[in-house]
Amino acid sequence: MNWDDPTDATADEGLAGPAAERLVGSVADGEDQAVEAALRPKDLGEFIGQEKVREQLDLVLRAARARGATADHVLLSGAPGLGKTTLSMIIAAEMGAPIRITSGPAIQHAGDLAAILSSLQEGEVLFLDEIHRMSRPAEEMLYMAMEDFRVDVIVGKGPGATAIPLELPPFTLVGATTRAGLLPPPLRDRFGFTAHMEFYEPAELERVIHRSANLLDVEIDTVGAAEIAGRSRGTPRIANRLLRRVRDYAQVKADGVITREIAEAALKVYEVDARGLDRLDRAVLQALLKLFGGGPVGLSTLAVAVGEERETVEEVAEPFLVREGLLARTPRGRVATPAAWTHLGLTPPRPATAGNGQQDLFGA
Ligand SMILES: Nc1ncnc2c1ncn2[C@@H]1O[C@H](COP(=O)(O)OP(=O)(O)O)[C@@H](O)[C@H]1O
Ligand SMILES: [Mg+2]
Repeated sequence: MNWDDPTDATADEGLAGPAAERLVGSVADGEDQAVEAALRPKDLGEFIGQEKVREQLDLVLRAARARGATADHVLLSGAPGLGKTTLSMIIAAEMGAPIRITSGPAIQHAGDLAAILSSLQEGEVLFLDEIHRMSRPAEEMLYMAMEDFRVDVIVGKGPGATAIPLELPPFTLVGATTRAGLLPPPLRDRFGFTAHMEFYEPAELERVIHRSANLLDVEIDTVGAAEIAGRSRGTPRIANRLLRRVRDYAQVKADGVITREIAEAALKVYEVDARGLDRLDRAVLQALLKLFGGGPVGLSTLAVAVGEERETVEEVAEPFLVREGLLARTPRGRVATPAAWTHLGLTPPRPATAGNGQQDLFGA
């Protein structure tokens, strides 16, 4: 995976086990999917944060409406849980168009795509989630469909095969990807507009939480919402999930109202700390600090110390720790930052007097 790509989400994509069942994981689980439909903002005005994306998208859609035309193809790129699926539905709603939802992995053969494309209505929005995981032949068919609203359907096999051109009605493709860097340039270039979704500020997540609490009929005060927002890793999906767990706690242990005390107590039970680190994240940091003096230490050694697979540490725990500025990956190994010591309430060892003595001790 690409460590320089902040939207790289391998961490949550393919892994079962610790990654899948984490309370702070950013990929939707079954319960999320059931609840999210009810929590999705329905139009751009209701969509919180992402000011730039909203402003730009608003212009694209308004202009298309004014021309009475179908909107340009839109690519949404960003980490899981930031609102890509939600935005695709908003695009359709704002255009007053129906939406068809599919995903890259669901399209195995070009024929699957041809079947979908040829059944689109004029102006329809086709949402292609995880577009970077589409097969090559389907991708090539998509190029032509996006550009010329035409596909060649191949009939027959071998020397007798013929291509039958098929005209398509104009449609809007909305592609979503967690890995914009993985898209082949010819595909990327065919989108008229690319929206880069950023992680959300705590104040924005607070608004998300108040809005969801309202829809779920949960009473929550300002500091309670702020407490949950600060632990949500910049991600609305996680904010909504933590809100539901804190609500459970408030109902069972208190009068149902979410205050700061209730939020803190509930998230302590679920082992999500004040910065949104969970048990695994903290175990990695703790090992790095307490056993290896803050590093540098090799990934394999760190993984053994935590009792986890190398991949779990590297792909599940580290990306967020790096993003939070708690851990750095260096050519000589993993190193804790001063913020990591502070976060765990530990005092960093005094720097070795003779140059890089500390590194000699813990290196390799
Ligand atoms: N800007 C936002 N305002 C309010 N809720 C949001 C926003 N973005 C995402 N959400 C909520 O977060 C959840 C996950 O969003 P989703 O669109 O499924 O993310 P993605 O497709 O990027 O993984 C949904 O329940 C949605 O309601
Ligand atoms: Mg989605």
